[in-house]
Order: sequence, then C-alpha cells, then structure tokens
Amino acid sequence: MFTEGKIGILKTKNRFIRSATAEFGANSDGTITPLYFELYRQLSLNEIGVIIQGHLYISEEGKAHDKMAGISQNSHLKQLKQLTKIVHNSGKSSIIIAQLNHGGIHSVSKKAPSLLDGKKAVEMTDDDIENVIIGFKSAAKKAKEVGYDGIQIHAAHGYLLSQFLSKRTNKREDTWGGILENRASFLLNVYRGIRDSVGSNFPILVKMNGSDDPIDGFPIEEGTRVAKWLAEEGVDTLEVSGMKSTRKIEDEELTYFVPFAEKIKKQVGDIPVSVVGGFRYFATMQRIRDNFADFISISRPFIREPDLILKFKDDKEKADCISCNKCFNVEDIVKCRADE
Ligand SMILES: Cc1cc2nc3c(=O)[nH]c(=O)nc-3n(C[C@H](O)[C@H](O)[C@H](O)COP(=O)(O)O)c2cc1C
Ligand code: SF4
Repeated sequence: MFTEGKIGILKTKNRFIRSATAEFGANSDGTITPLYFELYRQLSLNEIGVIIQGHLYISEEGKAHDKMAGISQNSHLKQLKQLTKIVHNSGKSSIIIAQLNHGGIHSVSKKAPSLLDGKKAVEMTDDDIENVIIGFKSAAKKAKEVGYDGIQIHAAHGYLLSQFLSKRTNKREDTWGGILENRASFLLNVYRGIRDSVGSNFPILVKMNGSDDPIDGFPIEEGTRVAKWLAEEGVDTLEVSGMKSTRKIEDEELTYFVPFAEKIKKQVGDIPVSVVGGFRYFATMQRIRDNFADFISISRPFIREPDLILKFKDDKEKADCISCNKCFNVEDIVKCRADE
C-alpha cells in the first residue's frame, strides 16, 4: 500500500485514494467556502496519494442536492483554483481530482433516460443528451484550467450516467437505450467529448458500478464489458463501486464490491483499477492490493481520521470509523458525528 503508483501521467505517493465525498458545504450558488480549504489542507497534509473531491455539478440542471458545489460557471472557478493550490502547496505530493456529475433523476431538473413508475421524472430529448455531453466537456476543461490533476466521471450510484447504463432505469427505444452498446454510448460519448477537450495526457478516471442492485438492470457481465470499452478508449483508472454504497457493514471480510472489481481487472489488463466500499482493516486493503487491485479507495474513514495513513504506517490495524452514516447530517461541512 505504501509503494508508488501511476494514474496516466501522474505518479502517486502510495496506493490510497480518498474516494469522492460530498462536503455539503457550498453556498447556494455552488461556490465553495473557506471551510473546504481547511478540509482539503488536512487531507493533503496527511499523505493521501490521490484525493478525489466530492462531486461537482456540471450544469445547474444537474445539481443533485443542496449545498453541492458546482463547476459549471466561471464564478465557481476562483475558489476551486485556490483549493487546488492548497493541496499542491502542502508539500506532500498530493494529487487532487475533480469528480464531475449530473444527478439525473436525483437532480433539480429530474431529467432521466425515461419515465419511471411512481417517480417524478422528465424524459430527456436528444438535445438534452447533447447538452449534457457539452456540459461535461466544458466542466472538464474548466477543471484542467484551474489546476486539478485530472477529472473523474461519476458513472455510479444511480446518478444520470449510471441511470443510462441500467435496463431498469433506461427504457428508451432509440439509440441511447436497449442493448448494452446503446445504453453505454452516453458514457462513452461523455468520455470521448472530455478527452477531446482536455487532450490526450490529462488523466480521466471513471467511477462506475460493477453491477447494480437489484442486479438485473446492470449485471456484472455488463459492467465488465463497459469497463473493457472504457479501457480500449484509454481511460486512466477505473474505480469500482456499486449501489447502496454507504452500507453499515464493518466485517473485515465484507468489503462491498471486491468480487466485481476483480472481474473488471481481469478484463482491463494494465489499466489501473481501484475498489471502494467498506475497507476498514489495513490487512484487508493490503491483501486485496496484493491480489489484484492497483489502488484501494476509502471515504468515511478519512472523514473520521484524515491522518489514517500515518496511523497505518504506525501499525494501526483498523480505522475507527464505525460506518454509522451520521456524517450525512451536516451542519456546515462534512465531519464525523459518531460521538454526538
Ligand atoms: C458523506 C458522503 C458523501 C459522499 N459523496 C460522494 C460523492 O460525492 N461522489 C461519490 O462518488 N461518492 C460519494 N460517496 C460515497 C463514497 O465515495 C464511497 O463510495 C462510499 O462511502 C463507500 O466507501 P467507504 O465505506 O470507504 O465509506 C459519499 C459518501 C459519504 C459518506
Ligand atoms: S459519522 Fe460514522 S460513518 Fe461517518 S465518519 Fe464518523 S464513524 Fe464513520
């Protein structure tokens, strides 16, 4: 876990990734506050190899929740630039990646691949789809300009791109729905659009569900095919997650998505694969890393202990996070509230 790694042109200090973690602290216009600076200063000072910032909305219509930060307007950029500088100036070789998202049915616009029984949704037109692709391209360009080391496309957790991948939520009968090639074409077009706008060297990561839950909408056999297509396009790292990503399980053996990630790694060869969900024991992280994973991603344990890596170096065996999810009750910025 403590050896150097590579994500495209980036050299990472170690094999730990801080998985994207929404801060729930932005102003109503999507600009970030100084509280973000302190949070990210702490993470970068504590030797986390790669820090993926909480999801940023790529367009106003894609905003997924209150206090979510944006990267859609020029007015967002000054503070984001300051944030990337804070991480880079920490002197600890930290890397900061911007995660780009459109919330789809979970966004303010309720835009979705197709209508769903019992849910408020607005079925997207071809123009809507093209506009989202343009939004991702433009947000990625902005991310590069303000100093992020790379971007991650959020194609997991039931947000727009993952809604398109799943048969359960994508019931379209045009070229964006039906067979997997069609359902995946939105994600692949977003990838290609971003690659076009940021150039061949700028790292692009994708966070995807290995499979959905219930699995029939997007089984792992489909997840591995999509992963392979992304690998063939030149994606720089795949981070494997799944639905119900913040579970309350703490068993050493019950990390959530390892079998999916292992199958995906077999398909993508040299493309780095990370796996997220439920990692608490250092020995488990090391074992999965030794088996197949290039990186191990962690979210909640870094909320509770930003200095967890330094503690692991000092032989700590298990993160203190108890997976209670009280950190979702945010006042001003995400923090551990287990003891309150
Ligand atoms: C407060 C909070 C905010 C989160 N925000 C995001 C996010 O913005 N993007 C994302 O991909 N995942 C998000 N997640 C999910 C985490 O990245 C991670 O996949 C999940 O928590 C499982 O990992 P863990 O067991 O190490 O916490 C969030 C999780 C938490 C607890
Ligand atoms: S509130 Fe609970 S889940 Fe969140 S970081 Fe603290 S212990 Fe972990």
